[in-house]
Amino acid sequence: MEDRQLNLINKVAESLVAAKHVVALTGAGISVESGIPPFRGKGGLWEKFDPMEVAHINSFMKNPEKVWRLLISEMKDLLVSAKPNPAHLGLARLEELGILKTVITQNIDGLHQMAGNRDVVEFHGSFAWLQCLDCGCREQTVDIDTSQMPPKCSCGGIYRPECVFFGEMIPPKDLDRSQIAASTCDLMLVVGCSAVVQPAAFMPVIAKQSGATVIEINPEPTPLTGTTSTLLVQGKAGKIMKKITAQVERIIADKQN
Ligand code: OAD
Repeated sequence: MEDRQLNLINKVAESLVAAKHVVALTGAGISVESGIPPFRGKGGLWEKFDPMEVAHINSFMKNPEKVWRLLISEMKDLLVSAKPNPAHLGLARLEELGILKTVITQNIDGLHQMAGNRDVVEFHGSFAWLQCLDCGCREQTVDIDTSQMPPKCSCGGIYRPECVFFGEMIPPKDLDRSQIAASTCDLMLVVGCSAVVQPAAFMPVIAKQSGATVIEINPEPTPLTGTTSTLLVQGKAGKIMKKITAQVERIIADKQN
C-alpha cells in the first residue's frame, strides 16, 4: 500500500512538473485538517442539518434569524480561527513555482488566499464579507457583533453572508472564469471534493473534454473516479499534498543540477 502510494505521488509530481497549465478544484475536504467539517460523510454538516432548511435562500429569506442561529454563527466561530493546512500551503507553493495557475474553490473559508494563492475563484462566494439586504452596504464578517440575531446594518437591514445559498445562481463572472480555467488547463487537481454538487462538479468534466488529465486527492472515490479522473491518490489532502509538493521540489532541484 505504502509503495503503491509513493509511486502514485511520484507520478503526480512528475505530471505536475511536465504540465504547462495546472488548475485545482477544491472542496470542503481540503479544509477538514484545518478543523472545518465537510458537508457530506461522517461528521459532515448535513448529518446535523437539513441543507434545504438551513442553506437554501428561501429558508434564509423566510427566517434569517433561524439560519443565522443554526448555521452561520457556528461557521463564523470556526472560520475566524481556521488556518491553512499543508494542503493549502502545498497549492500555494505550486503557484509560487509557476506550476499552478488558478484555484477554483467551492469553499467560503478564504484559506487559499491566506495560504498565498493569488488567483482564486470563489465559486460559492465567500464568508469574509456580509451584505445588507436593504442598503447593500458591505461589512467584514469578523467585525460583526453576533450577540444579536440576525445581525443588522446601521440602516436596520439584515446582513447576509456573501456566499451562494442553495437556490441561487453561481455569479456569472465566477462561472465564466472557472469554465475558462477548466477548458484551458492541461492538468486539473481535484482535492477534497465529493463531486456531487453542480455546476462545480462539471469543471473536471470540461477539463477532461478539453484534453486535460484529471487527478483526484481524496480518502474516498467519487463519481469522477475512473471515468473523468485517471488517478485517485487516496488519503488526507494535507498529508498527500505535503508529499507531492516535496517530490515536485526534488524533481525541479534534480533538473537544475
Ligand atoms: P462535501 O462535504 O460534499 O465532500 C467532502 C469531500 O472531501 C468528500 O469527498 C470526502 O471524501 C473528502 N474528504 C474528507 N476529508 C478529507 C481530507 N482530510 N482530505 C481530503 N478530502 C477529504 O464537500 P464539497 O464537495 O465541497 O455548497 O461540497 C460541495 C458543496 O456542497 C459545498 O460547496 C456546499 C455543499 O452543499 C453550498 O453550500 C452551495
